[in-house]
Amino acid sequence: MRNLTEADLTDAVVARLARSEDPRFRQIMTSLIRHVHDFVREVELTEAEWMEGIKFLTATGQKCDDRRQEFILLSDVLGVSMLVDAINHRKPDGATESTVLGPFYVEGAPDLPAGFDIAHGGPGEPTEVRGRVLTSEGKPIKGALLDVWQTAANSLYSSQDPKQDLYNLRGKFRSDDKGNYFFRTIKPVSYPVPTDGPVGAVLNAMGRHPMRPAHLHFIVSAPGYETVATHLFVKGDKYLDSDVVFAVKNSLVVDFKPKSDGNMLEAVYDFGLKPAV
Ligand code: BEZ
Ligand code: FE
Repeated sequence: MRNLTEADLTDAVVARLARSEDPRFRQIMTSLIRHVHDFVREVELTEAEWMEGIKFLTATGQKCDDRRQEFILLSDVLGVSMLVDAINHRKPDGATESTVLGPFYVEGAPDLPAGFDIAHGGPGEPTEVRGRVLTSEGKPIKGALLDVWQTAANSLYSSQDPKQDLYNLRGKFRSDDKGNYFFRTIKPVSYPVPTDGPVGAVLNAMGRHPMRPAHLHFIVSAPGYETVATHLFVKGDKYLDSDVVFAVKNSLVVDFKPKSDGNMLEAVYDFGLKPAV
């Protein structure tokens, strides 16, 4: 094929997939090629802009290492992660909605007894978090695993902050016979996603702030049920309507209110798990 033009170049590229054996791969590549070509045609990309794009993607890759995933961050701030999440986790009524996992999950957090303080008495507003793990029909699930993590009062996750123990503000809890779970922590605070890389520069160029509303992260799992990765957001946080990664859902916003018997806060939330298919 020669003398390809603006009008027929896209079809020529797609035609080269004819011998690709995996039909799903062929479908994805065909669509990707068509959308990228349409994008270039629509904005009439200049050569300088194309080179800017190449440099941006190169810098994004170069920023990645075993602790930093700048491509996932890019996907998050462009809303792609939440779109993939929405398509892959359609929930029935009564099942807890999911949100992005985020880059700060660390495997291997310790198994802790009910009531344990994952903040180890560190700075912040002491808070009790409690509730139940239920089926989407409202029946208690015994022995569900709740893997929890959050930022410290300085807005940093332990994996971002050499001054914190790696498992500070992280822990695994189990629901009891009645589905109850309970742990102590501090009230989470809002924080910025990392802005010292190319994604930060793009956010700035878009005129956007980098903030996430305060939240606790959970991965909740139990045999026979779909695992849910989600957050509980703090009611009243000023970034709930402008989360930089578009992850807020009304059903996940929880009141962190003062307990009647003292100066602690209390947050109560019942998780609902969808049966696995
Ligand atoms: C987080 O909540 O930990 C997070 C999610 C997406 C991007 C950055 C951080
Ligand atoms: Fe987070």
